[in-house]
Order: sequence, then structure tokens, then C-alpha cells
Amino acid sequence: MAEPAAEPLRVGVLTSGAGTNLQALLDTVHGEAALIVAVAADKPTAGALARARNAGVETAVFAIGEYPDRGARDAAIAEWLIGHDVELVVLAGYMALLTSPFLSRFPDAVVNIHPSLLPAFPGVRAIEQAIDYGVKVFGVTVHFVLDDGGVDTGPIIAQGAIELADTTDPETVHDALRSVEHTLLPEAVRLIARGAVSRDPDNPRRTVVAADDPPA
Ligand code: GRF
Repeated sequence: MAEPAAEPLRVGVLTSGAGTNLQALLDTVHGEAALIVAVAADKPTAGALARARNAGVETAVFAIGEYPDRGARDAAIAEWLIGHDVELVVLAGYMALLTSPFLSRFPDAVVNIHPSLLPAFPGVRAIEQAIDYGVKVFGVTVHFVLDDGGVDTGPIIAQGAIELADTTDPETVHDALRSVEHTLLPEAVRLIARGAVSRDPDNPRRTVVAADDPPA
């Protein structure tokens, strides 16, 4: 008899911008391996909010000016996501750093997409950093976000790269990387939803991805 299908993973997305990565998730894994149940932004102008609403997903805005400090804002976001039974938080272009009051509520359950091949060029303006350094290969990393005080330092789940030997325009690089991001992020969420991503007990910095159909 066939195994009953697993419940889709309940995903919350935090975003600050246009939301093309959110859209990629909505267009691919949403309603299948995962269910995007909540989308929050740190500013009301984030284009991602309209994309979420168009897909019938609940949204909220947590502007820093409405809270005494970042910790209070982050605790409020965490409460809101927990209220939606979120199991995985995806940072899809979320431009604020998350503090312990948030991260401690979602251990090993926050992932971020960053437009560089980490550990090179963490933090803001990653593409500009890479261009200034003179790299010939650009890339994207999906990684866990740990409560370790670092920026873009968590264990790597997936990476994708493209060769752009002579490009010095950040927008051209970003345009090229978008198609990598829009494949890589849904794939990472699909793997996590399938329970295929774990940490190597001998080296917790390393993630291990189980094969699709392990032999019986
Ligand atoms: C992406 O390039 C992501 O890598 C970076 O912010 C951008 C967000 O784009 N962290 P979008 O809002 O998903 O279109």
C-alpha cells in the first residue's frame, strides 16, 4: 500500500524587497511540498507583500519604528509566525539582521538566500564586493541561519554558480543570479520539506542531503 502523503511543511517568509524569490516559492513548492502560510516585511513598501496577498497568503509589516528595539520587534515577528504554526522560516531578501529573541524560537529552522558563494562576500552589497574583488565566477548560497552572532555564517545547504568573466555592472550580475536564486531556493525548501537535510554529527558546519529514493 502506498505511504500516505506527508503534510506540507508550513513556511513563513520574511522579506524587504520586490519578492521575486517569494514568487519563485509561490510558483513552485507552494501547495506541494510546502505551504507558504505567512509573509512578513520590515517595511510597508515591500513589493513582496502584494505578491503574497495575490496568492491569498496572510501578510504583516513589522516596522522597527513601532518597537522599542530590534529584540522586541524580532520577538513580535516570531510570535506572529508561531501563531501561524510556521515550521520553517525563509529569509528571502530580508535586509535586517535577526536577533536571539527570534532565532532562539526557530532552532535549525531559518534559512537565508545570499547572492555570493559563501564564505566569500558575506553581508550587504555582496555582488559589489565580488565585482570589486575581481571574481570571474559569481554565485548564490542558501544556508541555515544560526544564533551564532555572525552574518551569513550558517551551514551551507546549497550553492549555484555562473561564470561571468568580464561583467562589472552589479545589476547585470544580479539579473544573471536571479535565475540561479529562483531555482536554488525552491529546491532547498523542497529538500527540507522532504526531511532530506541534516547536519553531519562529525562536523555540524556541514549539511548532508539524503538521496531522493534511498535504497530499501
Ligand atoms: C536577492 O537577490 C537575495 O539574494 C538578496 O536580496 C534579493 C532579494 O530579491 N538577499 P527579491 O526581493 O526576492 O526579488
